[in-house]
Amino acid sequence: MHHFSYRDGLLHAEDVPLTRIAEQVGTPCYVYSTATLTRHVRAFADAFSGLDAMICFAMKANGNRAVLRLLTGLGAGVDVVSGGEMALALAAGARADRIVFSGVGKTAAEMTAALEAGVHQINVESEPELEALDAVARGLGTRAPVAIRVNPDVDAATHHKITTGKAENKFGIEWTSARRVFRRAMTLEGIALKGIALHIGSQILDLAPFEAAFLKVRDLVALLRADGVTVERLDLGGGLGVPYRHGDNAPPPPAAYADVVRRTVGDLGCALTIEPGRAIAGNAGVLLSRVIYRKEGVTKAFAIVDAAMNDLMRPALYDAEHEIWPVREAPRDAERALIDVVGPVCESTDTFARDVSLPPLVTEDLIAFMTAGAYGAVMANQYNGRPLVPEVLVDGDRFHVVRRRPTMEEMGSLEDTPPWLE
Ligand code: LLP
Repeated sequence: MHHFSYRDGLLHAEDVPLTRIAEQVGTPCYVYSTATLTRHVRAFADAFSGLDAMICFAMKANGNRAVLRLLTGLGAGVDVVSGGEMALALAAGARADRIVFSGVGKTAAEMTAALEAGVHQINVESEPELEALDAVARGLGTRAPVAIRVNPDVDAATHHKITTGKAENKFGIEWTSARRVFRRAMTLEGIALKGIALHIGSQILDLAPFEAAFLKVRDLVALLRADGVTVERLDLGGGLGVPYRHGDNAPPPPAAYADVVRRTVGDLGCALTIEPGRAIAGNAGVLLSRVIYRKEGVTKAFAIVDAAMNDLMRPALYDAEHEIWPVREAPRDAERALIDVVGPVCESTDTFARDVSLPPLVTEDLIAFMTAGAYGAVMANQYNGRPLVPEVLVDGDRFHVVRRRPTMEEMGSLEDTPPWLE
């Protein structure tokens, strides 16, 4: 459910017509809806009410400062995966004691920063990382609050590029070594072992893999407790999917997901953390773009738009399909034609949609790529000399540019010419 809809023939973000944003900000730009973000974070909070659970927004999905400010203001914690994300989260006003530091390869400098900031938890993903964190914490005269991420070897049945919980994936401690590593952690002076973490993948549309993984964790909790290992916390990761296309099976709502959590691990006396990213931000954002040209090829027609693969990488990277909605609503009986919607970058993979059925698009038409609020702007880059795409936050009938488009000078400002080439 989101707050982008047609009114008076124009696509609106809440009460703001996207035409107005295009005029004032220019295209391409991302547009986020406060009401949608709010609704989603509340849906998770409601779903988990009655459980001792902390909802930590996975900011890798959307790291915009205003978005973080909004979500943390609504009570969310933050899941970060680098020192950079942690610094950005703190700058956005997140409380350190509501930050979980995940990630496969934390450096000693990142561990030091996390311990000095006083984060809630550091999720350790390998034995060398555990030993390194122990050393860093002892050096600082403290103990690191740790959850150890296990790899439950469960197939999340999602795109192979975003699955993380299979034995062959690089994430977490391999299931069969888990007991040994937890026992080792208990002996380390710099480690205050709190519990278990896992995350099996992203864009998961079926509750069965979650259930299978959580049941495996339940068994592990019993084994570990029998070994005398402390398990006070469970961090269940993120992964709940969103519908990308009309007619897609609706993903399970947060309430159904929470029921699985309740049923599988709700009675273990553990404080819970969940790390949703996409489910909170995904359909709270669109990428607004303008058709530069319509080109009639020999075999097909193309709409060449001003957004490109550098602004929204998901189609090029994962063959993701984002629905395309014309900003000017087409009449119900409008004829439709098959068209390829492509960006101007010099790569054939800069294609957003192939043979998509749309009302005729002509030069200057505005379109919105839907469900672009997660893994959109955060993954953008400057390929082909294209400035990072700006972001706009709408709230009711007002909007604000929450990241502006850099100037060409700013784009080149980190570069330098060696004196011998001056
Ligand atoms: N926690 C951990 C440890 C993660 O690795 C991730 C995502 C999340 C939480 C949040 O997962 P979510 O609730 O958003 O599914 N760029 C890809 C998705 C990569 C996800 C990486 N990890 C995409 O655009 O589909």
